[in-house]
Formats: sequence, structure tokens, C-alpha cells
Amino acid sequence: MVLAMSFAFLLFFPIVVQSQATEFIFNGFNGSEMSRISLEGASIVKPSGALKLTNASNNVIGHAFYTNPIDMYSNSSLDPNASSFSTSFVFAIKPSTSSPGGYGLAFTLSPSKQFPGAQPEHYLGIFNSSNDGNASNHVFAVEFDTVKGYKENSDKEGNHVGVNNNSVDSIISWAAGYYEYDKDNDANFNELTLESGDPIRAWIQYDGVKKVVNVTISPFLEEEHKPTKPLISHPIDLTPILNKTMYVGFSAATGQKTSFHYILGWSFSMNITAPSLNISQLPLPPPMENSSSAYKPQLKVVIASLSAITLILLGILFFFTCFKKMVQHHSLEDWELDCPHRFQYKDLYAATKGFKETGVIGVGGFGAVYKGIVPATGSEVAVKKIMHNSIQGMREFAAEIESLGRLRHKNLVNLQGWCKRKNDLLIVYDYIPNGSLDSLIFKPKNNFVLTWDARYNILKGIAAGLLYLHEEWEQVVIHRDVKSSNVLIDAELNARLGDFGLARLFDHDKLSHTTNVVGTIGYIAPELARTGKVSTSSDVFAYGILLLEVATGRRPIGSSNFVLVDWIMECHQLGQILDALDPKLNSNYMVDEAELVLELGLLCSHHKPEARPTMRQVTRYLSGDDPLPAVVDWGSVDFHSGGEMNSRNLAVISGYMTTTSYHSSSIGDITSSSIDAGR
Ligand SMILES: *[C@@H]1O[C@H](CO)[C@@H](O)[C@H](O)[C@H]1NC(C)=O
Ligand SMILES: *[C@@H]1O[C@H](CO)[C@@H](O)[C@H](O)[C@H]1NC(C)=O
Ligand SMILES: *[C@@H]1O[C@H](CO)[C@@H](O)[C@H](O)[C@H]1NC(C)=O
Ligand SMILES: *[C@@H]1O[C@H](CO)[C@@H](O)[C@H](O)[C@H]1NC(C)=O
Ligand SMILES: *[C@@H]1O[C@H](CO)[C@@H](O)[C@H](O)[C@H]1NC(C)=O
Ligand SMILES: *[C@@H]1O[C@H](CO)[C@@H](O)[C@H](O)[C@H]1NC(C)=O
Ligand SMILES: *[C@@H]1O[C@H](CO)[C@@H](O)[C@H](O)[C@H]1NC(C)=O
Ligand SMILES: *[C@@H]1O[C@H](CO)[C@@H](O)[C@H](O)[C@H]1NC(C)=O
Ligand SMILES: *[C@@H]1O[C@H](CO)[C@@H](O)[C@H](O)[C@H]1NC(C)=O
Ligand SMILES: *[C@@H]1O[C@H](CO)[C@@H](O)[C@H](O)[C@H]1NC(C)=O
Ligand SMILES: *[C@@H]1O[C@H](CO)[C@@H](O)[C@H](O)[C@H]1NC(C)=O
Ligand SMILES: *[C@@H]1O[C@H](CO)[C@@H](O)[C@H](O)[C@H]1NC(C)=O
Repeated sequence: MVLAMSFAFLLFFPIVVQSQATEFIFNGFNGSEMSRISLEGASIVKPSGALKLTNASNNVIGHAFYTNPIDMYSNSSLDPNASSFSTSFVFAIKPSTSSPGGYGLAFTLSPSKQFPGAQPEHYLGIFNSSNDGNASNHVFAVEFDTVKGYKENSDKEGNHVGVNNNSVDSIISWAAGYYEYDKDNDANFNELTLESGDPIRAWIQYDGVKKVVNVTISPFLEEEHKPTKPLISHPIDLTPILNKTMYVGFSAATGQKTSFHYILGWSFSMNITAPSLNISQLPLPPPMENSSSAYKPQLKVVIASLSAITLILLGILFFFTCFKKMVQHHSLEDWELDCPHRFQYKDLYAATKGFKETGVIGVGGFGAVYKGIVPATGSEVAVKKIMHNSIQGMREFAAEIESLGRLRHKNLVNLQGWCKRKNDLLIVYDYIPNGSLDSLIFKPKNNFVLTWDARYNILKGIAAGLLYLHEEWEQVVIHRDVKSSNVLIDAELNARLGDFGLARLFDHDKLSHTTNVVGTIGYIAPELARTGKVSTSSDVFAYGILLLEVATGRRPIGSSNFVLVDWIMECHQLGQILDALDPKLNSNYMVDEAELVLELGLLCSHHKPEARPTMRQVTRYLSGDDPLPAVVDWGSVDFHSGGEMNSRNLAVISGYMTTTSYHSSSIGDITSSSIDAGR
């Protein structure tokens, strides 16, 4: 053992001594440095010493590579693996005024400095459509990209950093940002906008022994403060990718949209950590937009001498800001100005941190719901984003929301406002912490069981909310999509009905009111499916289904033609209605209340609208003010004109058949009972 170790020591020691670390540093790029850098395409070095890879033209490519090739492997035949390397650089991506948002830049290792036939845009000036993904490229790159990948599912975030192997498709990518440890030693993620124009530091390290690549970025601060936790730490063996010698450098490209890509300083080293850049020697990213606070005093002197220019620039900037504001105001239609519930897009964008995917708290039939925090007030909101809406009467829509925004009831989710941006509609609600009733019943966390008391209280709350909508407000509001996933549960386990009244807003662009059925399969009243006529009693029908769902813990429609109403009716007829109760309740329930809820559910989901109670009656039954009338046996009811039906058929009509006929007439191949229909 000891022998083997000393043998290994003898073997490796001389190599370590002999090995020469390749290393270079550019604290800015000035005249005398130029022989060490090869430029191609749109790349130039500015008089300030900033290396500028792209200009404002569309579809340009800029390359800048270290002139000499770098040995990537040890000369020793004992180590066939690619050696470690490390690089550190400062870059800035400044959007051009003409068409900002133009593509990214990539730190690149390539067997050649030339990329014949390489394409701009997503191909980053490195690849083209025919060689993308081909292992014979021998290219390793780390991209700092400002636009989404061009393929579905690739590089999901627009503002991202990715590690690329022979392809524009990253093998791993992450929203651009950095981790900071707070006092509890938790790593907090801070997003960093690559395309802010501000300088950003980047570090890339490859560990040739552990075969891990780390990528770290941080805002540019005076002190080199490298975040301890890298943004990306990804296991990858570069040995198959890297040739014996490689060229290292940068590539950037523009497309339909353009940005200026700058490298302000760069160091690189084989085997050891790349040397630190000397901040005081770095050029500023031209033109300087931000304050100079991040720079050393020496630079402040320079800036002071340029203060006249700065003042002029500021003047121009001020003028343009005002001008932009004027233009923005102008593009708002007059009616939009007196909508007190209208939000500004930029506020919602900030509140949701740019509609980050990690902020999605729900996905509905017509878009995703994001959690957000309004920076000005610190209040939590839920923002529903309805993409590519086809609402034609935006003005009527706004009027409708403005009026719904005035609804206030403790069992309704408060609608705070709305915002439109191009074809997207954003609707802002209060954020309700406990999620939907649907998820508490069907997908509870940690085997949580909603107690009978909580269920009864929730059902009473929904009834109160619906009563308010139907009878107690200045207008009659028909919800049209009552279902468990539209009921949110607050911290005290009170029910809050959401999305009220919105459904009818989606009628405006439909061909005919009668064929357009809005609602959710399983909750659609039979007369609604047949005639498309909505009324408060179609809401009562859906509420009846909800009662049954909450009491039994079963979905309105299950597999192999299971229809909840039908089954409970059978239990009722057998005099064993309590058998239908949710087994998870474990017999912990009030018998009277349980019977009441199940029978009221049957009554409300009666196929005949006139047989259903009003929401006012429902609340009286639930509070015990009125006794519940006996549930009529549906089997004796003549349902269709002349048609005799037994209970099973009728129940089927009240649920499943209506949805089936609804399928075939309007939506086609919906298979899940919980898919929103008609939106
Ligand atoms: C270029 O920068 C180097 C240090 O990086 C400095 O020694 C040299 O004087 C500079 N040359 C010019 C022409 O500014
Ligand atoms: C940008 O660079 C390209 C390639 O060098 C050049 O043809 C084009 O004229 C440049 N555009 C501008 C606006 O400088
Ligand atoms: C890196 O270091 C290893 C041993 O520490 C040595 O064998 C190798 O030659 C070095 N590689 C390069 C490219 O300098
Ligand atoms: C490998 O050997 C070549 C030729 O002897 C030498 O130029 C090069 O610097 C060596 N590379 C390393 C990493 O030691
Ligand atoms: C080279 O990499 C292979 C595969 O990861 C590993 O088994 C081997 O030990 C490595 N060799 C050296 C000298 O590090
Ligand atoms: C890179 O290495 C591969 C195989 O190791 C070789 O086929 C290819 O020609 C090399 N590329 C260049 C540009 O030297
Ligand atoms: C794609 O790039 C490769 C290698 O750079 C080149 O040989 C090929 O001609 C290019 N293909 C097209 C269609 O431009
Ligand atoms: C990869 O590129 C090589 C050389 O250009 C070519 O011969 C080969 O067919 C390409 N492979 C694929 C899968 O496109
Ligand atoms: C790199 O890409 C090539 C194809 O271009 C693939 O064969 C190889 O597995 C990839 N390597 C890694 C580590 O992803
Ligand atoms: C890469 O990051 C991991 C995780 O933070 C760390 O353990 C490792 O030492 C890092 N490696 C290098 C070469 O920086
Ligand atoms: C950085 O550059 C300044 C001015 O060129 C010099 O005075 C200072 O010593 C350098 N700092 C380091 C750490 O090299
Ligand atoms: C640039 O300005 C923004 C907002 O004024 C600020 O948050 C940021 O820290 C500034 N960046 C630098 C490098 O000073």
C-alpha cells in the first residue's frame, strides 16, 4: 500500500513540476494586446479597450479568439483525460435602441477559429442547421442567451445561461442569476438580467479530474466577489469533445433583433484558477448608462471629466423617457384611462419576477396562474395570464371586469384588476394560501384529511358566496363555472369562490350564444348542455355536484361510466345514503349534516331546473332554518317528452350523457372530466 502510494507519488511529482500552466489575462483590449486576439466578422476593439462582438446590424456574427491554440491535454501518456481549465471575464450586453433583445454570446472552445457556414441568431455564430448536434464539431460552449431557444422545450427561460456540447441546444440551462447566502446559510437565488447593459462577471471552471463544469455569474462589483454556490454545476466529461488543442474565445450573433455584446476583460488558465482581473484597468461598457458607483475612484475622475457629455446624455435620456411615456399614454385608448382596476404591465411583470415558471401556482383551461408580490405594497397576488385571447370587445371586457372588481364578499376571491398586453390578458386576484378545494380533497399533502366540520363550513361559505352573486349584489352574476377547483381555501379554511362571472366574457367572440356552452364537464346542467341557456339554477346544479363531491371525496365522473349523482341516488333509494360518504372521514361526521348535504346535493343536481332550490333556499336548508323536502325519486319523473326512463338513465343524462353529447358537438376528444370546456 505504502509502496504503491510512493510509486504513484514518484510518477506524478515530476509531471506536476514540469507542467507549464497556460495562462493569459486581458484587462481591457488595447493596441498592444491585439496580436494576441484574432477578430472576425463584426468584432472590433473600441478605442476605450472594450471588445465589441456585434453591431446594430441584423444577422451579424462576431468572433474573438485567443490567437494561439491551447493544449487541452497533458503530454503524459498516463493521463488521457482533458485537463482542468478556468476562465473569468466581464461582459455586457446592451440592447440596441432599434430592435432590442437580440441573441446571446457564448464562451467557446473549438478546434478552429473559423466557422464557415455558421449561422447567426440561435446558432450563436458557431453552428448551422446542418451541423447542429454533430459530434464531429468538437465544440464546447457556455451560452449567455437573452432569447428563448428556437425549439420547443429547449432553453425555456429567455434570460438564461446554458452549457452546450456540439449544439445550440443546451445540455443544461438555468435562468441567469446568482446565489447569495443569507444569515441562516440558505442560498437565495437572485435573477440577473443579462441584457441590462450593465457589466456582469462570469467564471467558468472545468475540473478535469472530477469531470464537472461550473458556471457562475454575478453583478459587477468593485471587489471580486464570486458567489460560493455556482449557478450551474454539471457533471460532464469534456474528453470526447475537446481535441488535443483548442482555440478559446467568444462568439456572438444578432438576428431580427440586435444587441451589442461587449467583453471588457478576460483571463484564462489551464489547470489553475484563472487570474483575477484588475478592475481599475477595465474599460467601461460604452455607452455608460448607469451611475459609476460600481467603479473605482480613478474611474470616477474620468467620468467627472466627462460630466458634460453625461449631462447631455442624461438630457437626451430624460427627453426620450418622457417621449416614451407620452407615446405609451397615447397608445392607451381613452376609455382605458378611467379604469381604476387597470394594472400596468411592468408592475405585474415585476411582481411575478417576469412570469417565471417557478412562480406558477396553477394551470387552468385558458392559461397559467402566477404568484406574485407587488413590490410597492408587498402584498401577495395571484395573476392569471390568459394567452392569445380572442376577445374582440376589449372595451366591454374591461367594463365587465371593472364592475366585477367592485364585488366584495368574504366568500369570494377578491378581483383586484386586470391588464392587457398585446393579445394577453392578465387578471389579478388576491392570493389565497391554501390552494383549491379540489387539491385539498383529491391531492392532499401529507395525508391531510379535511374534517367534516371544515367541509360543512366550506360548503356553507360557497353557498353564501353564490347567494351574494345571484341575489345580493346590484346585478345578477351567474358564475357559470362552479367546481371544486374554482373554490380556494384561505388560511382559516374558509371557502372563497373564484373566477366568478368571467365565463360569460368569453361569449363575445363566439358564433352563437346557444351553441357555446361554458363550464366544466360533470358540472354542466342538462338544460344548459341542450339549449345553452344559462341561469342561476344552472349554477345551483353545479353547486349540487360540488356538495356530493365534497361529502364523498369522489369526482363527479369516474372511470368506466361511474356517475357520482347516479350512484348516490342508488344509495338513497336503498336507504343507505351515508354509505356514500368519504371513507377518509373515518365515521367522524354529524349524521344529520351528512344526510342533509347528500340529499341537498341530489336536490340541487336535479335534472329539472324548476325542481332545484334557489341559493337562498339552499342557505336556509344548510343553516337548519328550513327542513329539507324529501328528495323526489327521479325514476318516476317523465324526463323527455314521452320518454320513460329509469333512475340510471336519468342520472346518466344529468351527468355523463350531457357531457358526451357536449363533447361531440363542441370540443371533440376531451377525455378528462376536469378539463375546462368551451374556453
Ligand atoms: C495596453 O494595456 C497594457 C496592460 O494591459 C498596458 O501595459 C499598455 O500600456 C496598454 N497599451 C496602450 C497602447 O494603451
Ligand atoms: C456590422 O458589421 C458588419 C460585418 O462586419 C458590417 O458589414 C456592417 O456594416 C456593420 N454594421 C454597422 C451598423 O456598423
Ligand atoms: C495539468 O496538470 C496535470 C497534473 O497536475 C498535468 O499532467 C497536465 O499536463 C496539465 N495540463 C496542462 C494542459 O497544462
Ligand atoms: C506538450 O509538448 C509540446 C511539445 O513538446 C509542448 O510544446 C507543450 O507545451 C506541452 N504541453 C504541455 C501541456 O505540457
Ligand atoms: C481518466 O478518466 C477516466 C474516466 O473518467 C478515469 O477512469 C481515469 O482514472 C482518468 N485518468 C486519470 C489519470 O485521471
Ligand atoms: C478533432 O479531433 C477529431 C478526432 O479526435 C478529428 O477527427 C478532427 O479532425 C479534429 N479536428 C480538428 C479541427 O483538428
Ligand atoms: C455548416 O457548417 C459546416 C462547418 O462549419 C460547413 O462545412 C457547412 O458547409 C455548413 N453548412 C451550411 C449549409 O452552410
Ligand atoms: C456529422 O458531420 C460529418 C462531417 O461533416 C458528416 O460526415 C456526418 O454525416 C455528420 N453526421 C450527422 C449525423 O449529420
Ligand atoms: C455531446 O454531444 C454528442 C453529440 O453531438 C453526444 O454524442 C455526447 O453524448 C454528448 N456528450 C455529453 C456529455 O452530453
Ligand atoms: C464546482 O461546484 C461544486 C458545487 O459547489 C463544488 O463542490 C466544486 O468544488 C466546484 N468545482 C470547481 C472546479 O470550481
Ligand atoms: C491594478 O492596476 C492599477 C493601475 O494600473 C495598479 O496600480 C494596481 O497595482 C493594479 N492592481 C493589481 C492588484 O494588480
Ligand atoms: C444600474 O442601475 C440600476 C437601477 O438604477 C441598479 O439597480 C444597478 O445596480 C446599477 N448597476 C450598476 C453596475 O451600477
